[in-house]
Amino acid sequence: MRKFGFLIHPLSYEDVLRYEPKAAGKGRPLIRKILEWMPAYKVSEITGIRSATGAQCEGYFIAAPLLPDQFLELPRDQVMARIIRGANIAAELGCEIVGLGAFTSVVGDGGVTVAENCPIAVTTGNSFTIAAGIQSLIRGAREMGIDLAQAHATVIGATGSIGAACSHILGNQVKSLTLTARNATRLKNLSHALQPHISAHCDWTADIRDAVRRADLVLTATSAVSEVVEPEDLRPGAVVCEVSLPHDVSRRVAVERPDVLVTEGGNVRVPGDVDFHFDFGLPPKTALACMSETMILTLENRFENYSLGRGINIHKVLEIEALAAKHGFELAGMRAFDKAITDEQVAHTRELAVAARAGVAPVDRVGAAAQAKR
Ligand SMILES: NC(=O)c1ccc[n+]([C@@H]2O[C@H](COP(=O)([O-])OP(=O)(O)OC[C@H]3O[C@@H](n4cnc5c(N)ncnc54)[C@H](OP(=O)(O)O)[C@@H]3O)[C@@H](O)[C@H]2O)c1
Repeated sequence: MRKFGFLIHPLSYEDVLRYEPKAAGKGRPLIRKILEWMPAYKVSEITGIRSATGAQCEGYFIAAPLLPDQFLELPRDQVMARIIRGANIAAELGCEIVGLGAFTSVVGDGGVTVAENCPIAVTTGNSFTIAAGIQSLIRGAREMGIDLAQAHATVIGATGSIGAACSHILGNQVKSLTLTARNATRLKNLSHALQPHISAHCDWTADIRDAVRRADLVLTATSAVSEVVEPEDLRPGAVVCEVSLPHDVSRRVAVERPDVLVTEGGNVRVPGDVDFHFDFGLPPKTALACMSETMILTLENRFENYSLGRGINIHKVLEIEALAAKHGFELAGMRAFDKAITDEQVAHTRELAVAARAGVAPVDRVGAAAQAKR
């Protein structure tokens, strides 16, 4: 059977325990040191993926066990060596393609160096992450009764690999769009490059809070390692789709803004009876979109460097979206702050949003308490 590998890593100190239960009770400095020394290793086998076409595949999770900020702060050579070793473990296990999860694709050049130093195909999974992120945002807008064609959207991390492509696609669906991140020059250049290709009026700002304050729809695709979206800044009844991993919407939003719908972008239900043999925090049979892209390419026997480098080809986003539908990969149920969102919660959020937009209701503390428990 055709096989794939997928590189993962802990997203937080709490997450480290999934990888190394012996870390329980140890202080953060020691955990960081342990991770610094830990080589890449095979975590688990992934079995039971069965496409709607009947095709099957299997894979492996392989850990490049560093925390997000360690990927950014440790010497680049040391980090790249860890990622490249992980990719080569996939090759040694008989995989024909390896996907780069979360910060294993954020550091460096979006997988190009990994592909040059590993005998099998490499993908960041970003093409399907973009497709699923946009789908999640649009679903959220629909649930909250927001008319896309009249909406103002902002993409945070707009100059990134995922953010730029999301801005391009979203820019042909909404009325106006604000690009935001920290580097003003890159934002300005992107805005000029994008405007001729999108129907929305496009502006940019390096003042992220200002961008959030003006937006009905917010898509986050940053490589930030701390919170970026705060409850005070969100418009009444806004929708926020979090593609970033780790997430960068403040947990205070769950408590203080029950009129706002926050949804994780990019969670996908995998066809068949998939078992990851590893709890990475999502419900059973659910994968991240970047994992799903690696599975879809394996089911298609497309062992090529599909999403690689910083620039993403929009045609590939559309192609992988169509291939996902063909094989039976679909958006999973909505989640926020690591918990499922029920239909009742969505209906309640919608009611509070209507009142908040009309300026007739104070923030609902009962609803807030319910959200906080989610
Ligand atoms: N859900 C999924 O399935 C999935 C799959 C793959 C990746 N991801 C996640 O998606 C995110 C983006 O990945 P990428 O490959 O597009 O990264 P990238 O190319 O490195 O882009 C990162 C973007 O974030 C901005 N940024 C960085 N720090 C920031 C901060 N503190 N505040 C605001 N903006 C900041 C950067 O611009 P400036 O430096 O100018 O601020 C840039 O625009 C990452 O969190 C990654 O883990 C999710």
